[in-house]
Amino acid sequence: MSLVKKLLLSTSVAAVASFSNQVSATDERPIIDYNYRFLPEISRKGMVSSQEAIATQVGADILAQGGNAVDAAVAVGFALAVTLPQAGNLGGGGFMMVHLAEEDKQVAIDYREMAPARAHRDMFLDENGDVDRKLAGYSHLAAGVPGTVAGLHHALSEYGTMSLPEVIAPAIKLARDGFKVSYALESSLAARTKRLTSNKATAKAYFKEGGVPYSAGEILTLPDLANTLQRISDLGLDGFYRGLTADLIVTEMAKHGGFITHDDLTNYKVVERTPVRGTYKGYDIVSMPPPSSGGVHLIQILNILEGYDLQSSGQNSAQTLHLMIEAMRRAYADRSKHLGDPDFYAVPVNQLIDKGYAGELRSLIDPNKATPSSEVAPSKILPDDGPNTTHYSVVDQHGNMVANTYTLNYSYGSGITVEGAGFILNNEMDDFSAKPGSPNAYGLVGEEANAIEPKKRPLSSMTPTLVFKDGNPWVATGSPGGSTIITVTLQTILNMMEFNQNVATATSFARIHHQWLPDRTVVENGISPDTQRLLEQMGHTLVDRKYTLGSTQTVAIEGEYFYGYSDPRRPGAKTIGVDEVKESK
Ligand code: DON
Repeated sequence: MSLVKKLLLSTSVAAVASFSNQVSATDERPIIDYNYRFLPEISRKGMVSSQEAIATQVGADILAQGGNAVDAAVAVGFALAVTLPQAGNLGGGGFMMVHLAEEDKQVAIDYREMAPARAHRDMFLDENGDVDRKLAGYSHLAAGVPGTVAGLHHALSEYGTMSLPEVIAPAIKLARDGFKVSYALESSLAARTKRLTSNKATAKAYFKEGGVPYSAGEILTLPDLANTLQRISDLGLDGFYRGLTADLIVTEMAKHGGFITHDDLTNYKVVERTPVRGTYKGYDIVSMPPPSSGGVHLIQILNILEGYDLQSSGQNSAQTLHLMIEAMRRAYADRSKHLGDPDFYAVPVNQLIDKGYAGELRSLIDPNKATPSSEVAPSKILPDDGPNTTHYSVVDQHGNMVANTYTLNYSYGSGITVEGAGFILNNEMDDFSAKPGSPNAYGLVGEEANAIEPKKRPLSSMTPTLVFKDGNPWVATGSPGGSTIITVTLQTILNMMEFNQNVATATSFARIHHQWLPDRTVVENGISPDTQRLLEQMGHTLVDRKYTLGSTQTVAIEGEYFYGYSDPRRPGAKTIGVDEVKESK
């Protein structure tokens, strides 16, 4: 029986008898707080939380073998490239936040895609000067130079303890021998059959004869992808950025008018960046800096909200939601102007995350009335001198934590599989601002800071985040969801920090989202009709979200226990705790 079940059974009687914090009969340590309707996974030796159950198991197995959180995270990254083709990837990019327990240090690994050298500002404009959405989303031009393989390789060689062949082996086996298609994958592929089968190599790799989608329970093998993974295992970076895989990518590009060349591939660089840091009522937030907008605006919004007594106004009450919307609106306005790749544009990070600046913004918020977005402009601060993504989180027995978000941008990226190499290409070039003021796929607008330039990285919303309590590592989290990633991550940690919810309840609580433009608040099912009415009376325009917002995968450390929870909003996710570990590597 798992530890979780044992704990649940052994404490269930007490849970009925008392609604206060539960303590174990033997040692008086709090185990699970039964005050909430949602219970997390619990374990003592490690935890992995990802969007896909097989990949989560791969990571848990690595921890059980004595690998550290980075070993497990890299193994999960490669496994998801096989079992979660809609977002897990070799052909995309992402960000990894790592907490190194021994050194008490955090690193931010930027393996975002880079624009090819031939990319130029107007590459997605048609003859009328309008953005050609098909070109930006579904063509070979949509692909940035992939960073995932370099990113995972970097993380492992700098901070892992195991070899590349050891952590990549499970992914190779899954691709070579095949894996059982889940209901989640069946429905995801079936929903996009037309788009995906229009690319011959994608049809061949991911569909049955005649473009028929696989059904749940059937076995999907990915032999070309297995060979690519094997080359990476044998040759490291040269297995992807040079040699046969690189040849296959460049041939694919040359055949279909794409820009990526051998030089682009060999010039790809992982960048370790200084994490962006903030505080919220004594908690420390450590998150991804530009070219992600995530960490900056997460901290900016928290800074604004810190000035209110949200506990008194109440979780998800109209008053609290109003203040959150107003803070989000102002942060996203700044995003549109000030955020981009810091190697190309002086992003005013320090000003944006300054508590004094947050205070100025707070003073402009009317506590009772919505400010129309037309009256909110990006602030005039001067620059400093100086639908699918997936997130997973890992914690190990030493207290090392990893929060990793990576993506192809849309589900299955551009939908284009590199012939012979078996992996799908991203369409991350659409995250650039193809034309000032013209919204991208997520309705986000941008300007100069995020204009297309050779070798530049497109601005991202991905927000892998670490939170520290009393100076100790506490939470690792993040989410997919395009522009909503920042606000989804915000609400998850706010529910834990401000409203003391356990990780499961904090995850499950209904969410909202506002991004300045369009001027509307998306509300999830679960925000009550009378709360919505009150918000409308304050001047907010609300739209129902048919789909849910985000899909967080979160792990947390409390004392000597690990807690974790996979967002129930998207199918197929799983969190697995580890209770026994062979000797550490
Ligand atoms: O980096 C970004 O912000 C986007 N490419 C993320 C896309 C995304 O989350 C799609 N997912 N649901």
